[in-house]
Amino acid sequence: MLKLFGALVVLGLALACITSWVLDSYDTAWHPKRSIRHPADGDGSKGNTPPFPGDDLNNIFWFVQVSDIHISRFHDPRRIPDFEKFCTDTIEVIKPALVLATGDLTDAKTESKVGSLQHEVEWQAYHNVLKRSQVMERTKWIDIRGNHDAFNIISLESVNNYYRKYSANQKIGSFHYVHTTPFGNYSFVCVDATLTPGPKRPYNFFGILNQTQMDSLNTFRADSLKTNQSVWFGHYTTSTIVSPSPGVRDMMRSAVAYLCGHLHTLGGLMPVLHSRHPSGTLELELGDWMDNRRYRVLAFDHDLLSFSDLQFERWPAVLITNPKDAQYLHPGVEPLGRIRRSTHIRILAFSEAPITAVHVSIDGEPLGTGRSAGGPLYVLLWDPSLYLVGLHTITVKVEDSAGRSTVREQHFTLEDSVTPSFGFTQSFILLSDHYILGRALFLITMLLNVGVLLAFRFLRFPLSRALPSQICLSLHLVSKTDLFFYSLLLFNLCTALGPWFIGELIDGHSGACFAFGVLIDGHFLEGSLTYVVGVIQLLFFNIPLTFYLCWSLYHRSHGNTLRSHLVRPGRRCRTLAVHLLMLLLLGWQAHSCYFLLETYGATAFFLSPVRTWALALSLVLVYRAWTGPAPLFRDNSKSNSSS
Ligand SMILES: *[C@@H]1O[C@H](CO)[C@@H](O)[C@H](O)[C@H]1NC(C)=O
Ligand SMILES: *[C@@H]1O[C@H](CO)[C@@H](O)[C@H](O)[C@H]1NC(C)=O
Ligand SMILES: *[C@@H]1O[C@H](CO)[C@@H](O)[C@H](O)[C@H]1NC(C)=O
Repeated sequence: MLKLFGALVVLGLALACITSWVLDSYDTAWHPKRSIRHPADGDGSKGNTPPFPGDDLNNIFWFVQVSDIHISRFHDPRRIPDFEKFCTDTIEVIKPALVLATGDLTDAKTESKVGSLQHEVEWQAYHNVLKRSQVMERTKWIDIRGNHDAFNIISLESVNNYYRKYSANQKIGSFHYVHTTPFGNYSFVCVDATLTPGPKRPYNFFGILNQTQMDSLNTFRADSLKTNQSVWFGHYTTSTIVSPSPGVRDMMRSAVAYLCGHLHTLGGLMPVLHSRHPSGTLELELGDWMDNRRYRVLAFDHDLLSFSDLQFERWPAVLITNPKDAQYLHPGVEPLGRIRRSTHIRILAFSEAPITAVHVSIDGEPLGTGRSAGGPLYVLLWDPSLYLVGLHTITVKVEDSAGRSTVREQHFTLEDSVTPSFGFTQSFILLSDHYILGRALFLITMLLNVGVLLAFRFLRFPLSRALPSQICLSLHLVSKTDLFFYSLLLFNLCTALGPWFIGELIDGHSGACFAFGVLIDGHFLEGSLTYVVGVIQLLFFNIPLTFYLCWSLYHRSHGNTLRSHLVRPGRRCRTLAVHLLMLLLLGWQAHSCYFLLETYGATAFFLSPVRTWALALSLVLVYRAWTGPAPLFRDNSKSNSSS
C-alpha cells in the first residue's frame, strides 16, 4: 500500500507541473508576508513580555509522541517487547508530561497482510503492555485510533471495536485536552478522521471529516484560543483527510503544530516528512514504531515549541529548546522575541546513564559546557546580541557515563524574516489534497479513454491526419466493430459509474464500491483512494487493452493470423514483446482479482464487473480478435449511413 502510494506520489509529481490549479491548494514555502492570524496575542509585541528563558527549570514541560505501533499477532515478534521496554524504560528516563500515541495501535491484518480484521489478542497485548508497565500511572497516556484500528467495524458500538475496551483513552471522536501547569495552560486537540463505518482495507486509507465533526473541531479551536499554545494531533496527514471546505488545515490555523503519523516515512522513501501550512502551522509526520522504532520528544519552553525525532534506545536523546530551530519557527503564534531576550541556551538531555557533559558551540566556536539546572535541563549563559543578523548554527554534544554521545546541530536565527522553507516533495506529500488530485486524474483519463472510442466510432475515416495512419486505422477498426466497441464502452462506463464490486466490505455487512465512493449498509463514504485505484485500473488495464485490440485487429486486417504473424521474420521480437506485455497486464488484472478475493471475500470476487468479469471479458475479446473474422475496413459513410 505504502510503496504504491510512494509510486503514485512520483507519478503525481510529474503531473503536478501541468495541473496548476492543484498547485494553489498547497504552498511549497511559507511566505513571511502572508498575513497570519494571531490568536492569543493581542498586544502585538510577541515575545517582548516576560518570562524569558533563563537558567532555571521553569516554564517548560515536555511530552512524547509515538505513532503507528501496529501490534501484530503474526509479524515481528520483537515489536511488542520493544514497545513494553519503551513504556517502562524510555518513559521512565524521559518522564514526559504526556504521551500521544497517534493511531494504528494494532495491525489488524491477516497473516498474508492482505486481508484485515480486528484481532482481540492484539488489543489484549497492547492493553497488557500498558498495564504491566504501569505507564498510565506515570504519565498521561493519550491513545487515539488510526485507520487500522477502524478496519472492519460497522459502528462504534460494535463488539469488535476493541478500542473501547482496551485503550487507555477510550475517547471516540475528536476532543480537546488541556494540560494545566502553574505557568500556563496548553491545548491538545485531537482530530479523529477515522471512518465510521470502517471498511476493510484498502478503502480506509483516507480519513473523512463531515460538517458535524468540523463544527466540533471549530468549537475546540475557539476554546483553545484561551490557552497559551495549542498543538493538534491525529493519525492521518492533512493530505489524506477528506473534509468540507475550507478544510481541516484551515481549522487548525491557530495551532503551532499538527502532529500525525500514517505514512510510515513512505517505506523509507521520505525519512523526514515535515512541512508548514499556508497559515504557518507546522505539520510534523512521525515515522512509525512498527518497523523504524521512531518516537518524538517535544517541549514547550517559554511557549516556544521544539522537538526532536528519535530512535528507540539511542541514548543520549538531545533537544535544544533555546535557541529554537529556525526551520520550525511559527512567528504567528510563538513569542519568538523571547529568544533574543533570553539569557541562557537551554538543552534537554536524556539518557539511561548519567549525563557527564554537554558541550555547546555556535558557528564552530566552542562556547562552553552546560550545567545542570535540575531534571534533564542543561543551561549555558550566552549573549544573543552577538547573533542578531543571519542564520547561525548551534552544535551540542552530549556525553553520558556509559561512553555514549550524541551530537545535535541546528540552525537558529534572531531575525523575524529568515525562515528556511521545506522541500517541495515533503510539502507536496503533506499539503496537497491527494483525493482531489486523484479525482482530477481519474476524470481526465476516463474522458480521454471514452472520448477516443466515441470519436472514432462516429467520425468519418480518415479522422485527424495528425495521427499516424496505422494508429488511426486501428482505432477505427476497434470502434467500428460492434463487439469490441460496445464491450469496451460498457467496461469503461462501468469503471466510471458502475459498481466495481459488491460484497462484504465489513464482515456481515454488504456494500458496493464505486469510483466515487463506497456504500456500506446505507452509509456512503466519499471516494478518495478509489479514484487513485481507478486511475491505476485505467492506465494499467482499460487503456492497454484497447490498444492491444487495436493492434491485433490492425494485423488481422492485413491478413495475418496469430500464427503467421508470430513466425514472421524481422519484427518477431517486437510482436512477442507486445503479446508478453498484454500477458503481463492480464496477470496484473488477475492479481487484482486475487487481491479482491483476499480482502473482501468470495462474494466480492464473483460480483465484480471491473475485476473478475472484466478479466473474463478481456480474454473473450482477445480470443475474438485473433480468431474472429478478419475485419475489413469499411468506410464510415456506408456503415453508418445515418450519420
Ligand atoms: C501563559 O499565559 C499566561 C496568560 O496569558 C501568561 O501570564 C503566562 O506568562 C504564559 N506562560 C508562559 C510560559 O509564557
Ligand atoms: C489555566 O486554567 C485554569 C482553569 O482551567 C485557570 O484557573 C488558570 O487561570 C489558567 N491559567 C492560565 C495561566 O491561563
Ligand atoms: C458525522 O459523523 C458522525 C460520526 O461519524 C456521525 O455521528 C454524524 O451523524 C455525521 N453527521 C452527518 C451530518 O453526516
